Amino acid sequence: MAQRTLIIVKPDGVQRGLVGEILGRFEQRGLKLVGLKLVSVSRTLAETHYAVHRERPFFADLIDFITAGPVVCAVVEGPEAIEVVRNLVGATRFTEAAPGSIRGDYALDLTMNLVHASDAPETAAQEVSLFFEPDELVAYERAGDRWVTGS
Ligand code: CMP
Repeated sequence: MAQRTLIIVKPDGVQRGLVGEILGRFEQRGLKLVGLKLVSVSRTLAETHYAVHRERPFFADLIDFITAGPVVCAVVEGPEAIEVVRNLVGATRFTEAAPGSIRGDYALDLTMNLVHASDAPETAAQEVSLFFEPDELVAYERAGDRWVTGS
């Protein structure tokens, strides 16, 4: 089933010049970009986005980190996009992230783990609407999709 999911290239990814490399992996897999922008995340937006972690001991560090510099937010679309993107990103803990995944290839820290990706359909819908207005998401046809997804 076609899904949309939110990807955030975190401040470490932007500062390390890895935006193209990271977004390229999703494009290469065949996922379609339907939203894309550079964002300075406010503390309010960060606290809303990470509200589920509010009681965790790492919450303050997480908010400091995600607001420390610009991030790149993207929405991608494709079959089972939520799970496909999570697999491309790799496990949260860098020690467990498989080689070939983004974190497995580039991350050596738990907080600075380069990418956030929505983890379920409900959170994907919430997170997409938190970071994007409806008119910032663009529906369009790609000529090559017939040879990637069959539709
Ligand atoms: P992310 O997928 O953006 O979701 C929550 C983030 O919290 C996670 O990536 C990590 O970067 C960060 N984090 C920091 N410490 C921990 C921890 N002990 N357990 C899980 N996530 C952590």
